[in-house]
Amino acid sequence: MAGPILELENVNKSFGPIDVLYDITLSVHPGEVLCLLGDNGAGKSTLIKTFAGVYKPTSGTVKFEGRPIVFQNPREAADLGIATVHQFGGTFPLMSIGRSFFVGRELTKGFGPFKIYDRKAANEIAVKAVREFGITRIDDGDRLIGGLSGGERQSLAIARAVHFGARVLILDEPTAALGVKEAAHVLRIVLEARRRGLAVIFITHNVIHAMTVGDHFAVLIKGAKAADFRKGEKTREEITDLMAGGEAMAELEAEIEAYSTAHRGHPPPV
Ligand SMILES: Nc1ncnc2c1ncn2[C@@H]1O[C@H](COP(=O)(O)OP(=O)(O)O)[C@@H](O)[C@H]1O
Ligand SMILES: [Mg+2]
Repeated sequence: MAGPILELENVNKSFGPIDVLYDITLSVHPGEVLCLLGDNGAGKSTLIKTFAGVYKPTSGTVKFEGRPIVFQNPREAADLGIATVHQFGGTFPLMSIGRSFFVGRELTKGFGPFKIYDRKAANEIAVKAVREFGITRIDDGDRLIGGLSGGERQSLAIARAVHFGARVLILDEPTAALGVKEAAHVLRIVLEARRRGLAVIFITHNVIHAMTVGDHFAVLIKGAKAADFRKGEKTREEITDLMAGGEAMAELEAEIEAYSTAHRGHPPPV
């Protein structure tokens, strides 16, 4: 297996007095889906924002291709191919598919003051990119984003990220608001991104969705990594239990107690 493309090493993140992430060590490899599981408020979104340059760790290290890196902003992470696709794939309901595909990366023809947006080329490229991901229902780049289903929008956004060279794809609860069929679509696209060698970080509450695409799983409880395991190492019931707290919570409390004793004056982040 190739080395990890992105890693967190002993990362803590606080917002003022509020400790949100606690000693997180986690890595994601090319061609692998890392599923991040955990209850609301567990710190999942904060964790991926630390991966994507939105937040700097309060302490600990982010590594890209094995080397420590400090992202000054999300743009720096994006330039290295770390792409975050948001739920519903962005919000340009009144924009055409072709136009939205090139937002921020204007496709133009001509030179200097005669540059014009090349609508026909943009439409062709956008439609081809999504079709390569198996979304054959999108066949007209002039259609408006607002007319697409949630799953289609998300698929378009993922295809766009991959088209523009994403190497790490971060998906924060991409299937949360989708029906069964729509979610299946998105899961298929996640597997296609993985097949193409991208590293995917996939956040979900849904254990079945996670088990369908995941190679590697991490469960967050109250900002701490309560479990870290690979495909096949735990049953669905065990994963569900972990997400609900249960045994892991007792272990975690013991660990936090030990931490608290060792770091007198620094209360643990619970
Ligand atoms: N910018 C912030 N400032 C203060 N607290 C925050 C901030 N962002 C997140 N939090 C807190 O951190 C915790 C984890 O949030 P989040 O990462 O969004 O969790 P999740 O995505 O797992 O639901 C929550 O208690 C939330 O209120
Ligand atoms: Mg979240």
